[in-house]
Amino acid sequence: EKGGYEHFMLKEIHEQPKAVRATISSRIAKDNSAVVLDELKWNKDFLNSFNRIFIVACGTAYHAGLVGKYYIEKMARIPVECDIASEFRYRSPIVDENTLMIVVSQSGETSDTLAALKEAKRLGAKTLAVTNVVGSSIAREADQVVYTWAGPEIAVASTKAYTTQLIVMLLLGLYMAGIRETMPQERITELIRGLREIPTQIGQTLEDEDPIKTFAKQYGFNEDVFFIGRSLDYAVALEGSLKLKEISYIHAEAYAAGELKHGTLALIVDSIPVIALATQKSVYEKTLSNIKEVKARDAVVIGIASADDTELEKYVDHVIKVPETDELLIPLLAVVPLQLLAYYAAITRGCDVDKPRNLAKSVTVE
Ligand code: M6R
Repeated sequence: EKGGYEHFMLKEIHEQPKAVRATISSRIAKDNSAVVLDELKWNKDFLNSFNRIFIVACGTAYHAGLVGKYYIEKMARIPVECDIASEFRYRSPIVDENTLMIVVSQSGETSDTLAALKEAKRLGAKTLAVTNVVGSSIAREADQVVYTWAGPEIAVASTKAYTTQLIVMLLLGLYMAGIRETMPQERITELIRGLREIPTQIGQTLEDEDPIKTFAKQYGFNEDVFFIGRSLDYAVALEGSLKLKEISYIHAEAYAAGELKHGTLALIVDSIPVIALATQKSVYEKTLSNIKEVKARDAVVIGIASADDTELEKYVDHVIKVPETDELLIPLLAVVPLQLLAYYAAITRGCDVDKPRNLAKSVTVE
């Protein structure tokens, strides 16, 4: 049942090319000109009726939502708020019939997410579920559903669900941008072309696990790890940090790199591992100066960079490179080494990878 892998988590990490391909396929036009979401059939009037979108979810699905906020705002120019489901209901959110509520949930059964969805519906919002389980409670409760086609995810640590959620977020951004005409056609086509390459490129990032195994052995017994990044790299840093915490029990914190100076830098001391994501070209120089700050305090820095990067290696201790793609798509690749790092750190520490202590696959209590 584990297909020759020692754990479901590793199997599911390796299933990502297939899962992502399934989630994309039949949703993009043959000529790469548009995203086709037959399940939605939205039009300009429908989208123009929204003055705000909420994306609400928990855990990893929330992290996918953060990327979704970035995509939708950038591409479709509609304001998006992203919230943790257990917080959403208790802050009297401003929701009405001009709100689109998107909930993201692998299982479709997370009770906080379901409750947030019901509350938004009660307040008059239109609702969309992004879920991996056909016929789940959340799928049934929402007005519309876009499924991630990741296949069953068994390991508690979510991996292929996350990457397929990112795909759906991207498809939604492009779909809305196409309808609202908020993006040049050439840019839509360019991103769709890039998207077609992603499954193969995820496969490439999975080809050489040895350096990651080595890092996990070297740093797996550290008690604290920091993840830093800016923009989309920050969203991915949050996911990398959660993955490491939940299965290896290492205390990990993700920080927006520019926020370090506002407090966290006090914790950066000699030999502390810092995973620095530097894949975003638009904020590259700024990220680099933050990396120099942590290096100046003798942190051990593992950089995550695009294959064409020749700069980062001059400033950090190790670099893990991922294939070159558009900076909007690179989170789909950058997260993979972080998943592997969490996995091998857990192995180094002898943790029960698929069933981490105190955690359940689907959280049906509030
Ligand atoms: O099934 P859901 O996507 O609603 O689950 C949400 C979280 O419980 C889940 O992503 C959790 O954070 C994972 N264990 C993270 O790996």
